[in-house]
Amino acid sequence: MIAGIGTDIIEIERLKDKKDLWKRFLSKKDWEYISRFIQPEEHVAGFWAAKEALVKALDNTSIEFCDINILHTESGKPYFENVPFEGNFHLSISHERKFATAVVIWEK
Ligand SMILES: CC(C)(COP(=O)(O)OP(=O)(O)OC[C@H]1O[C@@H](n2cnc3c(N)ncnc32)[C@H](O)[C@@H]1OP(=O)(O)O)[C@@H](O)C(=O)NCCC(=O)NCCS
Repeated sequence: MIAGIGTDIIEIERLKDKKDLWKRFLSKKDWEYISRFIQPEEHVAGFWAAKEALVKALDNTSIEFCDINILHTESGKPYFENVPFEGNFHLSISHERKFATAVVIWEK
């Protein structure tokens, strides 16, 4: 059964120079992925949108963003690790030059 859905959109420019904020919301594993890119900001913005969308799907603001990992399958599909709620979380991320967006479906 679908327990929640969340979506978010962020202007990439708004996060671009906020490295202090990056440090607060990206996990160690997120950093490992982000560090592969010469211009990481669109990936960072996608991760932010994903975690905001997760909060909306859960209707719960208590989760610590930096404890949640966003990993990728071999084909590149993103997924959450370490979400402190039961169920399956389906994640989709997209980014373009100006915006990043994400959708989360919580199934339990
Ligand atoms: C994988 C693919 C869908 C990504 O789409 P895109 O428009 O290049 O990029 P977007 O900005 O929309 O999405 C990027 C995000 O897609 C996600 N993604 C990558 N591979 C994915 C996959 N296999 N499944 C689901 N999501 C995927 C990632 O989260 C990525 O962001 P991240 O690396 O920062 O986490 C695309 O590259 C692709 O392979 N399309 C195949 C379709 C095709 O061949 N069309 C031609 C028909 S002629």
